[in-house]
Amino acid sequence: MTSMEGVVQGTDMDNHAATKQHQQQIYNTGKPNLKENDSQVLTKKISRHSDKDTTTKGKYTLNDFQILRTLGTGSFGRVHLTRSVHNGRFYAMKVLKKERVVNMKQVEHTNDERKMLKLSQHPFIIRMWGTFQDCHNLFMIMDYIEGGELFSLLRKSQRFPTPVAKFYAAEVFLAIEYLHNLDIIYRDLKPENILLDKNGHIKLTDFGFAKEVTDVTYTLCGTPDYIAPEVVATKPYNKSVDWWSFGILIFEMLTGYTPFYDPTPMKTYENILNGTITYPDYLPPDILDLLQKLIVKDLTQRLGNLQGGSDDVKNHPWFKEVIWERLLSRDIETPYEPPITSGIGDTSQFDRYPEDKDLDYGISDVADPYGELFQDF
Ligand SMILES: Nc1ncnc2c1ncn2[C@@H]1O[C@H](COP(=O)(O)OP(=O)(O)O)[C@@H](O)[C@H]1O
Ligand SMILES: [Mg+2]
Repeated sequence: MTSMEGVVQGTDMDNHAATKQHQQQIYNTGKPNLKENDSQVLTKKISRHSDKDTTTKGKYTLNDFQILRTLGTGSFGRVHLTRSVHNGRFYAMKVLKKERVVNMKQVEHTNDERKMLKLSQHPFIIRMWGTFQDCHNLFMIMDYIEGGELFSLLRKSQRFPTPVAKFYAAEVFLAIEYLHNLDIIYRDLKPENILLDKNGHIKLTDFGFAKEVTDVTYTLCGTPDYIAPEVVATKPYNKSVDWWSFGILIFEMLTGYTPFYDPTPMKTYENILNGTITYPDYLPPDILDLLQKLIVKDLTQRLGNLQGGSDDVKNHPWFKEVIWERLLSRDIETPYEPPITSGIGDTSQFDRYPEDKDLDYGISDVADPYGELFQDF
């Protein structure tokens, strides 16, 4: 791929906060037909990875960090920019309220989030340094990624020119391919969970739904616009749900909207099951071909789920000019460098969130009814 410097120019880059997030993630908090536990039995979970993992557990305490500002708010708590009081470096600290995790029946997903993130070491995946807990909260310490969400860049740009979309798609591809090789399904691919580092390379964050699955699983989770039809239909599903979402992501980057969007999630699901997509005229034939092979209901037809596995995606003509080895070693010029002016620790690329004045962090002398559910932290 040649340099794509400046391709995003002419767009409204210095505009204020991005608007309109996707719909909220969904969690199967009710009574599903099959619970995650059942699926584990059914998947003959043969873990290829040691469960004994203490290297990041309780490695830090809250006193090791100065909390600076909120970078994002999620379903269970906040992500803060923090600074180590020891080495002065900046880190992102994701905080999850135990009670909320328990009430939303996400204990297993949260333990998996930590475990899967710990396992994953890849240039395009966020690095986690350690976790700890207090009586009310769980804490995860990660590298701070200054460039903000791909989501914000996309909303400001409205849509990406083909080479830009292709660059981000190719880097995301390598992250997903890596996870699948570890038998990890990611399950929440969307622009909000893709961060840009200071040079403009991607970092996949948010392993809240990542899970080790060797065969199939059942849990209904994800973000409505991006969920594959077999997940909506609560059928058993496998890694190929990520290839469906990958198709939706490319579609959104090229058009500025998702193909099944509706303000009400129920209607979105109907649209997904219905499966009709109107492709805008400006999409060239090679991308149309790729999208029609990714966003396909029939699992025997979906690219990534066929004999050639992820190689079929990688070898699709749309990616023909990508030099994968160079891309992996971050040796390809990025299409856009986030304008980080005040150096490391700059937060200009993140939306502002009202700060919570009464953070209940660091309390360790009250009852902790949920502590034993999170022994890995
Ligand atoms: N390592 C990080 N560096 C910078 N910002 C981050 C980092 N991790 C998360 N964020 C910000 O916080 C937001 C929420 O974090 P995320 O892990 O996606 O939580 P949730 O599971 O609630 O969606 C992200 O969309 C991103 O804007
Ligand atoms: Mg997220």
